[in-house]
Amino acid sequence: MSPEQQTQLKQSVAIAAADYVAKNLPNGSILGVGTGSTANLFIDALVPIRQKIRGAVASSKATADRLTAIGIPLFDLNDVNAIPIYVDGADEIDPGFSMIKGGGGALTREKIIAAVADEFVCIADASKCVDVLGHFPLPIEVIPMATAQVARAISRLGGSPSLRAGFITDNGNQILDVSGLSITDPVALESTLNQIVGTVTNGLFACRGADVLLLGTATGVESSRRA
Ligand code: 5RP
Repeated sequence: MSPEQQTQLKQSVAIAAADYVAKNLPNGSILGVGTGSTANLFIDALVPIRQKIRGAVASSKATADRLTAIGIPLFDLNDVNAIPIYVDGADEIDPGFSMIKGGGGALTREKIIAAVADEFVCIADASKCVDVLGHFPLPIEVIPMATAQVARAISRLGGSPSLRAGFITDNGNQILDVSGLSITDPVALESTLNQIVGTVTNGLFACRGADVLLLGTATGVESSRRA
């Protein structure tokens, strides 16, 4: 798939997601909004329905700026009781709707909002669908003083960690991108990685995966719900 085709699919899925929100977000409630190029297109597609949305919780500073630019009020998660719908992209998604996320480095805030949300709507182009997660390097956010310790622990698990050079997360931390993992049991690996002291968040979204997938394909947007 060419980059232009991929952008076109992201665009169509972004419009489908705005339509989904218009139909399913209860009046007066708060929307959760993810981070990345697909999420950016989704924010753009919210313009015609922004009056229906009371406000949003953003998963990154970049998303917050984009939502503000189109006039959607921002809410601090601590001031919000419920998020009926969270819409976000993914780097990979498997048939059970487990995902790798964090290519844009916003995984921690994304995982927090996903944990609060009643429904996670994943928006992705067809290139993101895989049978087994792990071709895309798994991002892990780490406390800077623990980077070497976490890297050693990851190596012992069979992964090859690489420091994302020149990148600091919105939370002031570093990212290790881990290649070489074949993730046949994403729930188990997510739990194992959570035990490594010094990690903030790993980019496996399996314990809390997506509920709905809006997938941009060459023949249109396919909508499916986790079985
Ligand atoms: C950011 C993410 C993104 O959702 C993921 O990287 C997909 O990005 P894009 O929509 O640009 O392909 O997890 O942390």
